[in-house]
Amino acid sequence: MDLREQVRQRYAEAARAAETGGGCGSGSCCEDGRPGDFGKALYSAEQHGELPDAAVLASLGCGNPTAVAELNEGETVLDLGSGGGIDVILSAKRVGPAGTAYGVDMTDEMLALARKNAAEAGVSNVHFLKGVIEQIPLPADSVDVVISNCVINLSVDKPAVLREIARVLKPGGRIGISDVVAQDHLTSEERASRGSYVGCIAGALSHSEYVAGLEAAGLDDVSVVFTHEVADGMHGAIVKATKTRQAQPRELPLLQPAARAGCC
Ligand SMILES: C[S@@+](CC[C@H](N)C(=O)[O-])C[C@H]1O[C@@H](n2cnc3c(N)ncnc32)[C@H](O)[C@@H]1O
Repeated sequence: MDLREQVRQRYAEAARAAETGGGCGSGSCCEDGRPGDFGKALYSAEQHGELPDAAVLASLGCGNPTAVAELNEGETVLDLGSGGGIDVILSAKRVGPAGTAYGVDMTDEMLALARKNAAEAGVSNVHFLKGVIEQIPLPADSVDVVISNCVINLSVDKPAVLREIARVLKPGGRIGISDVVAQDHLTSEERASRGSYVGCIAGALSHSEYVAGLEAAGLDDVSVVFTHEVADGMHGAIVKATKTRQAQPRELPLLQPAARAGCC
């Protein structure tokens, strides 16, 4: 089974577990048994109050991108790998009825869960699209803010994801992404020894790989800031960048997927 299919199956299982009140399921992003440490605890009590219990239970992120993305009324937001919909719902409330929040996910079970959670939360300015984040099903220059929570590390083609982010952003658009990021000194093998690929550890980019990847995709004002350690030398991080010019992506062989595949 290829790596993307392993990821899809693991998160289909996590969606089914959330539906039955079982939390993350086995081996998801909270596989180390410390879900609070991984990311769920990073949402405020106020944000929890805005969400159905099922959406909080289905949260599998490693940060809180809605807290860093500074969303404004009327904006269009896109969440890559939207899972149970927690960040799409929070974004939809922040941008208001004049704005729109899109979620893209490849897993049918997650899309069904997210649509149910959004209906329960009473938000209608949301759209959950089936697709892969390496080929985002939205037109160029159509999104003000791209957010994502613990998903880019799972991609088997990270340069394609970063290029797609630059493509869909409007000029002046920005990103506010949470992800797992490794310290630069860790080799691919050392990252894989700290956790699985489907558990959001082995596929993590290093700090300098992330910065170089975003710059190669044509984004500016790039920053990657560690927030909390999730494994030895591996951190939850906030990733920010802006699109100040029409992106002209460069090839960056450093990030090619084969280097990250043999891990599970
Ligand atoms: C760790 S969960 C995070 C879900 C959500 N962002 C959250 O914070 O709860 C990863 C999600 O990304 C989706 N996903 C992983 N790789 C993907 C890809 N290449 N394209 C689209 N969705 C993907 C999975 O189906 C899953 O719903």
